[in-house]
Amino acid sequence: MSRSYPMRDLPQQVTVHEVGPRDGLQNEAAIVPVEVKAEFVDRLADAGHKVIETTSFVHPRWVPQLADAEELLSRLHRRPGVRYPVLVPNLRGLERALAHGVDEIAVFASATETFAAKNLNRSLETQFDMFEPVVAGALEAGVRVRAYVSMCFGDPWEGDTPIPQVVAVGERLLGLGCYQLSLGDTIGVGTPGHVTALIDAFGSPDRLAVHFHDTYGQALGNTLAALWAGVTTVDASTGGIGGCPYAESATGNLATEDLVWMLRGLGIDTGLDLDKLVTTSTWLAERLGRPSPSRVVQALSKG
Ligand code: HMG
Ligand code: MG
Repeated sequence: MSRSYPMRDLPQQVTVHEVGPRDGLQNEAAIVPVEVKAEFVDRLADAGHKVIETTSFVHPRWVPQLADAEELLSRLHRRPGVRYPVLVPNLRGLERALAHGVDEIAVFASATETFAAKNLNRSLETQFDMFEPVVAGALEAGVRVRAYVSMCFGDPWEGDTPIPQVVAVGERLLGLGCYQLSLGDTIGVGTPGHVTALIDAFGSPDRLAVHFHDTYGQALGNTLAALWAGVTTVDASTGGIGGCPYAESATGNLATEDLVWMLRGLGIDTGLDLDKLVTTSTWLAERLGRPSPSRVVQALSKG
């Protein structure tokens, strides 16, 4: 199917921020060999991705799957025009990232007290003591900084997250000098009207991105709501893999292929080659030992 049916008030171009190698793999129990990770990242670049979130410089005991961050970066075949951001929570992580020539990082905050404790061993307030020097140090070193805020819609321990609480954390991160704020629905409980209300509460969509996990099957509907509200960067993960080890109810991210199928149908350009994405997902699924959860991958790989 190649015809597109554009709708009113949608952007003409969308940037897909691919998080498969980081968010997708971080929850895998069996350690994926570093050469598979390196090939995965290279294949994503070959499929047309311009932003590939590659790994995390977190504590290796907290996320053992990504303990090979240094080695992975040394194996990449970096392509001009492709960005390879990494997650960095603290100064120790920044030091490690800078030693490996990283030119973009992301800090990741929580909108709720409980998740700040579980994911970062900090409080809602003291997480900023950790991020402030990281953002300042990265900017000083000429490294771009993205920010995430997690549990933007709800949290397994505290229920619905109040919108003003999310906006307060998000604006503080943007105020530090982060170029973009990705709104994380870590456990996938958001619905489209909630997405619109949250984006509207920020006053402008210009520096916002969205990051939907698909636990309740809402990720594509939520994405459409975000696009209508003016967002033009959408996070997604190859084949819909992923989750957060510190939020058990978090399942996979919005699948990149499902997103690209929808955007292509709307006539929105992403620069991505869907056939290559599907081939990469199928290749990765074989290595992970289970089929991709993406409906589009399942449909297209049946031939
Ligand atoms: P902590 O235990 O409070 O760390 O953990 P600390 O600062 O007290 O340091 C303790 C020791 O760890 C020290 O060693 C440090 O050097 C070392 P010692 O001096 O005792 O020998 N250490 C490190 N070593 C290597 N790399 C580091 C590092 N930091 C400290 N970076 C910390 C605090 C933030 C480190 C820990 O909580 C952590 O690593 N958390 C990361 C959890 C994580 O990665 N979660 C998943 C990503 S978030 C996510 O998936 C959500 C997202 O997708 C959006 C969404 O879906 O909502 C982004
Ligand atoms: Mg996530």
